[in-house]
Amino acid sequence: MDPTAIVAADRATPPGVPFLHVGDLDYHPDSAAIWARMAASLQREVFALHGNHDRFELAWRDATEPVRLAPQLSFVPDGTVLTFGGLRVGCVGGATSIDRRDREPIGRWDPHEALRPSEVARAMAMGPVDLLVTHCPPQDVIERLLLPKDLLRHYGLPLSWRDPVAAQIQAIRAAVGQPPVVSGHIHVPFAAPELGAYIVGMDRVLPWPVPDDADPEGRHRFP
Ligand SMILES: [Fe+2]
Repeated sequence: MDPTAIVAADRATPPGVPFLHVGDLDYHPDSAAIWARMAASLQREVFALHGNHDRFELAWRDATEPVRLAPQLSFVPDGTVLTFGGLRVGCVGGATSIDRRDREPIGRWDPHEALRPSEVARAMAMGPVDLLVTHCPPQDVIERLLLPKDLLRHYGLPLSWRDPVAAQIQAIRAAVGQPPVVSGHIHVPFAAPELGAYIVGMDRVLPWPVPDDADPEGRHRFP
């Protein structure tokens, strides 16, 4: 993600309202200083999940509470429940890269991008939450999206390919009471209120609760 997108969203959002980033900041050891500088300029706290294009240290992933990376920027380990204004928000990052073939040779691929068994177990044990925020959407939501099959062909994957993380997220959602779910990973914004499912989209902000005027065609109109 481009740091300037977060700065722009920060300027367009009332101060003090926290951001929960749905993953793929593109946080790597060599970009940590850039993100720290960005966060210091914000009017709020940012809590970030891990995506499949991040490389957070495994020790942070194993922490039992958010890990502060810089002033106003914290990493949220999988299976953490954050509370915002009385709202219990369950957090689970991770996804499988379909473009691993291209990213691995240049060292921008994290072998731990998916959920490890310990993280799945922790997430399953979060207890009921009011909202689930994930990087990868649940499998049933992905199937509703009908993503272009050409994308899989482009990366040399069979049309039958499924991200195992998506099935894990679907199971975790059921285990924590089937709450509304907000996800990232898919770059196209998506709103399916009847499924209680939302995908933020690339470089966008999704207010919560989502306004009633979310587009029934599946696209919402947030900045
Ligand atoms: Fe992703």
